[in-house]
Amino acid sequence: MNRLLKEMKPYPMDELVKAREKLKREGKKIYDFGTGDPKEPTAPFIREAVKNAIPEVSQYPTVKGRPDLRKAISEWFESRFKVKLNPETEIIPSAGSKEAIFHFPLVFIEEDSEKKRVIYGTPAYPVYERGTLFAGGIPTPITLKYEDGFLLRLDRIDRSILEETRIVWINYPHNPTGATATKTYLEDIYGICREYDIILCSDECYTEIYFEEPPPSALEAGRKKTVVFHSLSKRSGMTGYRSGFVAGDESLIKEYLRFRSSFGVGSPEFIQIGAREAWKDEKHVEERREIFRKKKAIFEKFFKEEGLEFLEVKATFYFWVKVPEGISSKDYAFHLLKYGIVVSPGDFFGKGGKGFFRIALVPSVRECKEAVKVWKEAHKTLKRRRD
Ligand SMILES: Cc1ncc(COP(=O)(O)O)c(C=O)c1O
Repeated sequence: MNRLLKEMKPYPMDELVKAREKLKREGKKIYDFGTGDPKEPTAPFIREAVKNAIPEVSQYPTVKGRPDLRKAISEWFESRFKVKLNPETEIIPSAGSKEAIFHFPLVFIEEDSEKKRVIYGTPAYPVYERGTLFAGGIPTPITLKYEDGFLLRLDRIDRSILEETRIVWINYPHNPTGATATKTYLEDIYGICREYDIILCSDECYTEIYFEEPPPSALEAGRKKTVVFHSLSKRSGMTGYRSGFVAGDESLIKEYLRFRSSFGVGSPEFIQIGAREAWKDEKHVEERREIFRKKKAIFEKFFKEEGLEFLEVKATFYFWVKVPEGISSKDYAFHLLKYGIVVSPGDFFGKGGKGFFRIALVPSVRECKEAVKVWKEAHKTLKRRRD
């Protein structure tokens, strides 16, 4: 077995899923705010497009993907971010963004090089670290601070570290905190990456789940040695379809494409056809944002009533909340679990998550309202236990 796998802690969400499944088997009503996989139905026109595209004869898809999908992505990107991408040379469809994020360092890290650090913030989506480890890079997590709005501050990192760095991952809007970045921030980080010849990887799978100004893309700052990762999972409620894309610097895209055929990650043609239709439509995305806006309002009110401190959510469907005084995030999560409420303890997302928990606005609006009542009960017993 691969040594890395033996040393690795279980995937953070595994622990949560196991506990939840046990409760479910015992017949407990579960309000699952754990995994970020909302249950709103995929828009009917997307499902129809996929159904109609299932062919009589099915053959291997190419890793380069269908030209009409790349064209639809390019048109969407230009209308959304005012950045024109060449569909032939600057876009690769992916099988969701997770595989593309994981595989990226396998292509761009040279194990024998002095320049093999990969910087990412903590707390973070765990795949940046995992991909780095398997590629033989040096994971370099940087703690993100509440007082910095959870922005990764490259300007505070030692020059010597930056000189050894090959890749920087950023992810705004951010999982797990919901933090967003401005265009100025992206321009600054782009500038530092250029100064130190670092590849800037921007995981942008939450840019479409916003409640105020639409968040910017790193490609608005520039495209030299910069790539962005997008997904239909959150934007269009298509987690199960596995569809996204990587876009940016032509030379990186070319190299990445060359190696991706070894990974077997070509997206099925009928999924690509559904994806093409999804990128062409904004109405269903606006409808999804409206649903998350309602759920967000329920929890903003609840957290305020309960005196829980949280980062204001301008985008994503997450709340990043400080745990009540005197209890660890894990103990708090397990206390809530007794009531059927599943949240993710902050430390599941790395060292920087200590003292926080995350909720993903997954249950329906009705269930969110119910959950808040149950949660209040859980807080009462927590208070009684403390008094
Ligand atoms: C920050 C972040 N990046 C990437 C992904 C992967 O999304 P997908 O592979 O479904 O596109 C997720 C999923 O939760 C995520 O939270």
